[in-house]
Amino acid sequence: MEVIIRPNIDHAVDLVVKLIVSRIKEKPDTTLGLATGRTMERVYARLIASGVSFAQCQTFNLDEYIGLRHADPNSYRSYMKAHLFDHVEINLANTHVPDGSAADLKKAARDYESLIADAGGIDLQLLGIGYAGHIGFNEPLSSFKSRTRDKALTPTTRAQNAEMFGGDADNVPKRALTMGVGTILDASELVLLATGAAKAAIVAKAVEGPITSMVSASAIQMHPNCKVVTDEAAATELQGREYYDFVFENEPEWKGFRCAEN
Ligand code: F6R
Repeated sequence: MEVIIRPNIDHAVDLVVKLIVSRIKEKPDTTLGLATGRTMERVYARLIASGVSFAQCQTFNLDEYIGLRHADPNSYRSYMKAHLFDHVEINLANTHVPDGSAADLKKAARDYESLIADAGGIDLQLLGIGYAGHIGFNEPLSSFKSRTRDKALTPTTRAQNAEMFGGDADNVPKRALTMGVGTILDASELVLLATGAAKAAIVAKAVEGPITSMVSASAIQMHPNCKVVTDEAAATELQGREYYDFVFENEPEWKGFRCAEN
């Protein structure tokens, strides 16, 4: 794992966007795993501004609320259209979001796993992190071998996402269809972006704490190709800061990524 700490949100988002754009330029038919949430809104805005073409990409979103129609403004399908798909060159038929409105959720989950496998797996998986330590909607005690499935959301997560549902956590759906931790760990590369002081404690647990299913995001420590990108505010509780900065300043891979600030 590499931890890259940038001076502020803009620089952190810039680095993630540069990384995604460079992967798409290297491999135009990249299969992307996408996340939603407030952190990603800035990433998608910058991706749109970059002008990169997703014409040959396939995309797989991490999760979707159960019980919302596809066209519901709070569905993650709607989120992706509003924040990315409607503004870039992309074939909508190649964009996939778990079907949280399916009558048979177990079948929808199996079908989603098959679609990912048929695409040859995910090349680059973008991740955010929830206050309960989730990646996707893998709430505490999600098995590290879990695959796409129906999962109950924690009160912490429903409170975190209440803003989009009129400020009332009770309006947030109780369940979601989410890729499993095992599904996420199968991606070739993981990039987790966390910003803001409110994420500092959970980032430190995920990155430096024990690997435990109580913090699903700690599973990323087992991934051989994982980057965690934060701003200063989200990095304040990390113990190994000096070493992470040294790696970022010296690894040849990051040469083109440092110049904006240095
Ligand atoms: C959403 C998802 C979640 C979010 C996480 C952070 O698709 O996978 O894990 O990434 O809850 O959300 P924000 O960015 O709103 O803090």
